[in-house]
Amino acid sequence: MLSLYFTSLLALVPLATAQQGVWQQCGGIGWTGGTTCVAGTVCTYSNDWYSQCLPGTASSKSTVKPTSTAKPTTSAKPTTSAKPTTSVKPTTSTTSSTAAPSSTGLHAAATKAGKLYFGSATDNPELTDMPYVAILDNNKEFGAITPGNSLKWDATEPSQGVFTFTNGDTVVNLAKSNGQLVRGHNCVWYNQLPGWVTAGNFNATALASIVATHCSTIVGHYKGQMYVLNCSYSWDVINEPFNDDGTFRQTVFYNTLNTSYISIALQAARAADPKTKLYINDYNIEGTGAKSTAMYNLVKQLKADGVPIDGIGIQGHLILGEVPSTMVANIQQFVSLGVEVAITELDIRMNLPATPALLSQQQNDYNTVISACMAVKGCIGVTVWDYTDRYSWIPGVFAGQGAALPWDANLVPKPAYNGILAGFSGTS
Ligand SMILES: *[C@@H]1O[C@H](CO)[C@@H](O)[C@H](O)[C@H]1NC(C)=O
Ligand SMILES: *[C@@H]1O[C@H](CO)[C@@H](O)[C@H](O)[C@H]1NC(C)=O
Ligand SMILES: *[C@@H]1O[C@H](CO)[C@@H](O)[C@H](O)[C@H]1NC(C)=O
Repeated sequence: MLSLYFTSLLALVPLATAQQGVWQQCGGIGWTGGTTCVAGTVCTYSNDWYSQCLPGTASSKSTVKPTSTAKPTTSAKPTTSAKPTTSVKPTTSTTSSTAAPSSTGLHAAATKAGKLYFGSATDNPELTDMPYVAILDNNKEFGAITPGNSLKWDATEPSQGVFTFTNGDTVVNLAKSNGQLVRGHNCVWYNQLPGWVTAGNFNATALASIVATHCSTIVGHYKGQMYVLNCSYSWDVINEPFNDDGTFRQTVFYNTLNTSYISIALQAARAADPKTKLYINDYNIEGTGAKSTAMYNLVKQLKADGVPIDGIGIQGHLILGEVPSTMVANIQQFVSLGVEVAITELDIRMNLPATPALLSQQQNDYNTVISACMAVKGCIGVTVWDYTDRYSWIPGVFAGQGAALPWDANLVPKPAYNGILAGFSGTS
């Protein structure tokens, strides 16, 4: 089913002169392939770099011209009533309520407010779900994409020195096609590690070399990849280094290398791509407290030592009604170190079932988080950990909880969507 994407990637090879098939590219800056679509599909502007043959019939024959002033026409929204003409099978029925909700869009609102992006995580198995992808592709909603799993260590270096980027490339190429930034995630984390790393009994010299090789290879693979800034925007080089009490997590890296694994990874990443922003990312550092203080002290020390570090990622896996009141002060404290801050994995979970009252509280909570980012210039963007409850990690990990994201499982925007939008426009 991923072949859908390979099909459209193949279409990037400028040989096609025949009519473009459904889902194939049919225009965009630099595009030299075919610009007409097969019957039953219409060439539809997605962004300046990408127009695509989408199911439907043209109201007027349109190969939308990819100039920077080109505005998506109303046909740019995949019409959910249109039936795919090929074997493409949405995993759920497309009802009229699944349409992209707004002419504004969350990313458009974020950039209008001076932020760099509003983004979403995604994962490869979901990319066969075309109604889901249609919204993900909308770069008015999402200006940045984080591959949820496909750049983690177990996915990229399953055996020592054997690197695979197939799934990572699929997500990055999707983002590229849409003119979206990419947050690389991640180089060094204690979880989702292949056995050869955890059980290898490597000494410090060997493990230092393994960390450096891993980070430089995966960061280097995406060097200069993006249309927008000609580089991946940022990388979570270090993920979740702390325990909740602010002590360092006892991982194979820490136990073998003490904290030196952090500077080794950061330096390797910087050498591999001098332009991408290097982050340390963790959870439960939304408000002030022991863990946030530990992050502050670590970054302060790294800067004092001349180690490259550009940003602190605040994951933002929050519980309904428990957004810390110290969020603004905490972001300010991080920014005072001379780094940027991003909210990287936002979701706000509730006890199920979702009721109107809970969804209303969630709207307020999302608004509070966005407003906190808005309150500090150095908070540059916000990413949700996928955009729809259809693909949230929460129910699988927190029994009885869920409904954590701004779109529901039917791809319909929830009140939370309006909370985010209002946050970017400075209202509540
Ligand atoms: C570390 O391990 C490597 C590879 O097994 C070995 O060549 C090296 O001698 C070891 N270094 C130390 C200091 O034990
Ligand atoms: C990005 O790449 C484009 C096309 O290769 C080039 O024209 C542009 O100058 C580059 N921008 C930056 C900031 O490097
Ligand atoms: C780990 O590094 C820290 C900071 O450099 C140092 O204070 C500490 O003594 C080291 N721990 C060990 C066990 O070497």
